[in-house]
Amino acid sequence: RHSPRVTVIGAGKVGSTLAQRIAEKNLADVVLLDVVEGMPRGLALDLMEARGIELHNRRIIGTTDYADTSDSDIVVITAGFPRKPGMTRDDLLLTNAKIVMEAANKSMSYSPDAIYIVVTNPLDVMTYLAWQATGLPRDRIMGMAGVLDSARFETFIAMELGVCSLDVKAMVLGSHGDLMVPLPRYATVNGIPITELLDAATIERLVQRTRNGGAEIVELMQTGSAFYTPASSTCVMVESILLNQSRLLPVAAYLQGEYGLNDIFTGVPCRLGSSGIEEIMELKLTDAEIDALHTCAHEVRKNITRAEEIFAAVS
Ligand code: APR
Repeated sequence: RHSPRVTVIGAGKVGSTLAQRIAEKNLADVVLLDVVEGMPRGLALDLMEARGIELHNRRIIGTTDYADTSDSDIVVITAGFPRKPGMTRDDLLLTNAKIVMEAANKSMSYSPDAIYIVVTNPLDVMTYLAWQATGLPRDRIMGMAGVLDSARFETFIAMELGVCSLDVKAMVLGSHGDLMVPLPRYATVNGIPITELLDAATIERLVQRTRNGGAEIVELMQTGSAFYTPASSTCVMVESILLNQSRLLPVAAYLQGEYGLNDIFTGVPCRLGSSGIEEIMELKLTDAEIDALHTCAHEVRKNITRAEEIFAAVS
């Protein structure tokens, strides 16, 4: 069998860092595609030149041509733009929706059997539109956000308690944004619930910092948004699929009745293996947690409808 191949659409900060992680963890060959001529080839060559030092033999190809992506096992879509000065949210929604749908459709014609992971924001909306554009079965298309939000929550818990991050486990469900649903009840330090270790006010402060995690970094960086942990988080999903690890991760998945939600993508615990989403696990949630999840879904739905309206207006 050929060595596994992962295509990364969008060779920006997230895409190029993800390509580096995948190759240097020796998980797969990588095809890095962008619309900008030359740039993905330059990045690929730069990554290839480090192979002797990083001790792997994975091929990294940079390209602007979808034909080079054929027969990928996984396609990750990171293409898109952050909001620029003067741009409204609707402008961004329309711009990124077009980019993501086009990327998904073009990739599909060369890799119809691949598993698709969407990373472009607004995440839950972009994943829905990519699913709609491709008609992929729901086990083969998902969005990355929950692993990132959970990693942030775990980091803040570890920093607060002065313990090693390795020992902290937490899940953040729902949509990627202010409305996300961190689950402190299910967050532990080596099995000990954090509710035994921290008071309610402290936990609430960490939850708020998690909700604001992306914005905190944008404010500091000024010229871009987070990319190291987004790339690491996507890599965890890629790894669980390629190595059939069956990790249980929060993933934006298409819901058909789970958690009382229908026809929407939002973050829920999923078992990820070689066939993609192998199971959506339904946790027992409190009424407040279910309400919070439904509020997320409502907001995502509003933005999908908004995207459809903008499309209708311009077409
Ligand atoms: N096809 C392929 N690539 C494209 C296209 C397209 N149609 N349009 C834009 N791109 C590329 C850009 O040329 C750029 O290289 O997508 C890349 C985006 O990279 P960055 O601007 O560096 O953005 P990044 O920080 O990587 O974030 C990408 O992931 O986390 C999300 O919110 C983030 O939506 C954003 C996405």
